[in-house]
Amino acid sequence: MINSIPHTLATHGWWIVSRSSGIVAFVLVTVSVFLGLTMAGKPYRDPRLSRSLKALHEQTALAALIAIGIHGLGILLDPWLQPGVVGVTVPFAIGVHRLSVAVGIVAGYTALLLGVSFYFRRRIGAKLWRKAHRATIAVYVLGLLHAFGAGSDTHSVLFLAWAAGTGVPIALLFVYRLGAGRRAGERRRRAARANARATARAAAQAIYETP
Ligand code: HEM
Repeated sequence: MINSIPHTLATHGWWIVSRSSGIVAFVLVTVSVFLGLTMAGKPYRDPRLSRSLKALHEQTALAALIAIGIHGLGILLDPWLQPGVVGVTVPFAIGVHRLSVAVGIVAGYTALLLGVSFYFRRRIGAKLWRKAHRATIAVYVLGLLHAFGAGSDTHSVLFLAWAAGTGVPIALLFVYRLGAGRRAGERRRRAARANARATARAAAQAIYETP
């Protein structure tokens, strides 16, 4: 048994690396998305707690990008799969789990794009960046579909419990967030209308009072 471990590592080592880093990547994406959604409504009055959560959100997102990189490398170096660089970077170029892996590749690019955009948010513009950042939920959903489609361990009770236990609150938070965005927009429009009415009233009064 002990003697077979080096043999297993030699033949399945990169497969184990790719599976474990895939799971780690998904867990980190889940935590980061969850934190992002909880922070979006600014529910924390304590600025120190808010700062800590923001830092954790950023660090888990960066760690997820590293784990995705290791995951891609593990797949690339898997002697059984031998997908080649094109297989791990171009959707539908791989021979196995074509659609599921394509979904994973798109999730990887989306994560990279959104992660890097954080450091260029001033140049992009806060409003546009915030809108684009909402697409992070897609990384989570695509990652989940990819994991169920291509994974070897994703039908285990542990993974299913993690997916269900985190997926339901994330879905609820996302729906709440959409509603909160719409409500804030409606509040802004109502305030702008009231402002315009007050300005018009003041102008009319000024004309009326002019001798
Ligand atoms: C760079 C693009 C990606 C490629 C080429 C890729 C490829 C693959 C492949 C071939 C598998 C099957 C491994 C096996 O034999 O079990 C897999 C599994 C998995 N991938 Fe990816 N993936 C990519 C991106 C992602 C991303 C972005 C995530 C997370 C958000 C992710 C999470 C997972 C998970 C959780 C599994 C299941 C591990 C297992 O149970 O075996 N992958 N991926």
